[in-house]
Formats: sequence, C-alpha cells, structure tokens
Amino acid sequence: MLLEKLIDGADLSPALASRLAEDYGRLAERGLPPRLEEYVLERYRLDLASEYGGIAVKNPFGKASGQLSLNIKQVRADADAGLGFVVLKTIIAEDAVGGQSMSAWAIPETRMKVEPARGADAAEGWTVTWKGRGWSDSFDAYLKLFAESLAAGNETGMLVVPSCKYHLPRPEEGEWRLGEYEHTTRRLLDVWETRRAAGGVMPVEKDFSPTLAGDDRSAQVETIERWMSSVTRHMREAARPRPVSVGLKLFNAMFDGGFQIDMLRLVNERCGADGRPDFIVYANRLFDPEREFEGKRGVAYGGPDLSARNLRVLARLRALEQRGEVPRCPFPMSATGDIGSGRMAAEYLLRGASTFQMHTFFQLPNDQYRMSRGGRTERALHELYFNPERGLLACLLRLRRALDWPEDWNVRRMADFCADPANGLWAAAEPAAVPA
Ligand SMILES: Cc1cc2nc3c(=O)[nH]c(=O)nc-3n(C[C@H](O)[C@H](O)[C@H](O)COP(=O)(O)O)c2cc1C
Repeated sequence: MLLEKLIDGADLSPALASRLAEDYGRLAERGLPPRLEEYVLERYRLDLASEYGGIAVKNPFGKASGQLSLNIKQVRADADAGLGFVVLKTIIAEDAVGGQSMSAWAIPETRMKVEPARGADAAEGWTVTWKGRGWSDSFDAYLKLFAESLAAGNETGMLVVPSCKYHLPRPEEGEWRLGEYEHTTRRLLDVWETRRAAGGVMPVEKDFSPTLAGDDRSAQVETIERWMSSVTRHMREAARPRPVSVGLKLFNAMFDGGFQIDMLRLVNERCGADGRPDFIVYANRLFDPEREFEGKRGVAYGGPDLSARNLRVLARLRALEQRGEVPRCPFPMSATGDIGSGRMAAEYLLRGASTFQMHTFFQLPNDQYRMSRGGRTERALHELYFNPERGLLACLLRLRRALDWPEDWNVRRMADFCADPANGLWAAAEPAAVPA
C-alpha cells in the first residue's frame, strides 16, 4: 500500500468526523480557542507537543525565516495567534568591527509577488517571488528584535529562534572568517541567556539560501561538501565555552536529487562527532537561473515542485536507511517547503519531521482561508489544524488509526516512529527515482 494512503485511507469515526466539521465552522466565526493545545487534547485526545532543535514546543507549527518575522509587531501577532515557534529573518554574520563577507545578501526588502503555481505533476499551489535577501538593518537592531521577540514568546510559550548566514568561502578562498562566526554567535547567546525565561540551549538555524544555489560559490560539488562538513564545527567553536544547538537549513542545490541525498549523508556520516549538526531544516526553495523578476535574472521559487522534490528525496533517504543500505540519519528534522495544509505537514511527518515551518501559506489572499476574522496567522492555523479533510487533526487521527498508535503519543513521538528504521515504514516503499 502506498504510504500516502495511510493519511487518506482510514476513515474517521462518524463522531470524530462531525466533531471536526463542527469545530471548523464554529471556530471560523469565533476564532481559535485561547489554549488550543488543551482544547485539542480534551476534544480529540491528540497531544500536539513536539520538539524543535532540542527544545520542547507546544505545537509543531512555526513561521519560517523571512519577511514575515522581521519586526516585533509580526512576532507579537504570531505569539497571540498561537504559533509554536518563530524563526527570525536571517541576519548576515559580522565581525567585531562590522565586517560582513556575505554582505551581498544584506540587501533591503523589495516587493513580493504572491501567485498561483502549478507543479510539473499538475498539482496546484502558491509561490512568492521577490528580490531581497537577508536582514539589511544593523546587527544591534537585530539583537533588539531578538530580545523583544523572546520576551513576547515567553508570554505565550512560543519559541523564538535566530537564523544566520555565516561566511562560506569561495572555491579559491582558503580561510574561513571565524571572527564573524564568533562575534555574531556570542552576541546572540548573550541575548538568549538574559531574555529566554524557560532556559535551554539556544538553537540557531544556519541558512544556506536558495540564491546561494545560483551563486558561483556553490558551482562545485567539492565546495558545498567543504561547507557542509565544517560549518557546524565552526559555529560550535565560536560559541565555546557555551553550548549552541546548530540547525542546518539545507538548500536545494543546482545538482540532481541524488546530490541532495549525498548532502544529507555527508552531514551525517562525514563530519565527525563535533561536526554533525544537532538538527536539520529540510529544505529551502528551488532556484531557477533563467527566470526573470523585475529585471533580475535568476529567482528562488516554491510551490508544488518544491514539496514534490523534498518529499521524494526524504522518502528515498528513509527507504535506503530502512533497508539497511545507508546509515540512519538520526537528526530531528523541521520541515519547510510548500506546507499549505495539515495533510502536507503529515506527508513530512511520515518522513520523520517533527515540526513544520511555513512562509508562503501566511501570505495567501484572504479568500484562501475559511476564517474571515483575525490576522493571517490565526486564519492559517485554523485551516492547518481544523480543515475536516486536509487539516492536521484529521490526518493525525487517520494515521493513528491506520498505524495503531497509542493515544498518548505526541507529535514528536509519532515523528520518531516514522523515522525509526526498526519500524520499517518505508522499507518496502519504492519511491520514484529521485528527480533531476
Ligand atoms: C519572501 C521570502 C523571504 C525569505 N527569506 C528567508 C530568509 O531570510 N532566511 C531563510 O532561511 N529563509 C528564507 N525564506 C525561505 C522560507 O523560510 C521557507 O523556508 C521557504 O519559503 C519554504 O517555505 P514555504 O513554501 O512555506 O514558503 C524566504 C522565503 C520567502 C518567500
């Protein structure tokens, strides 16, 4: 049986189906319950708790780094709406005197265009096109945003995570600019330690952005391999003696899908104990070197082709692991890429992801959400959780029934089950060959 059938196949009991349909309609008018996780636990016996980067999160939905997490107003609205975590806009690392080797990425925001996208397999979705890159204000302004965001997160139990683009040497460049690693990581840690009420080791996402795929820096396989095998160690050393939880946000390189598997295997198998990341975020947008947007050639894009590729690569990886053909890639995984329904989140969960982060789904036209009140985050969450067909609750309840999962398993536990080779969920699967 195709694994996807597990999500759609097992019918909900009539009582649960009508409870979901009733909630979907009623909450669209009234708004989400203030303590949503308790509500879901009580009404559906579903525990939404999960883990991101080694830290407990109250639910698995987060905002991915970008234009929607670059000011405190946005972060406060997300905390109020009930997100589990927010990843702040990517800061470009700098050294103690403000030197930034990756300054080409520190350009101001420009117009974003949100439009429907049709995948190669004819699936319908959405993509966002724009020209900007990383944070373009000062580092001090970023630290202030981080501090205020942590305070806002403390109030509602929402985790706030910084994202950083550190120096990546070009093929001909010998040295890593470690001063940028040290200065940036240490100052972020200072803020985390003073403002984060619940403690824990600071997670940080290392952004390998899709625009990097089109840059001559990443034209050679050896260069990407060099980055992937060293960057975690440099981040850890920069933080010492304090610990840091390193998350690599992997990108879709310009090579074929087989290379994506090599990349995942490389960070797992060839970095040594100190050089392996604590978690991964899989995987940032695709890059089209030919497409033009407002006079600029080469743009990143998302939509159905992105999720199709990510899901195929991850399915292939799990199948290889579960057949014992490659060592297990044991990192906790946060999924990103065209998550526009709870069903898509469940697809990533089946491949072992324990949290789900979105950007595009928070930018759709209002008529794409059933809820017609509140802010975008609340409207999106309503759809993601409660849609009776494609919502996360419906999908998890069906999966639980199909796989006979105990009622007390939370989302983290479900993800662990799916990733664990001993359960062999993917062992017999024959995912289509990984695409070019
Ligand atoms: C306008 C825009 C800006 C983005 N900026 C960043 C960024 O600064 N850092 C980063 O790691 N990812 C960035 N991303 C990627 C998103 O975080 C996300 O991983 C990606 O868009 C896939 O998710 P989605 O399909 O839900 O949009 C950006 C995406 C968009 C659309």
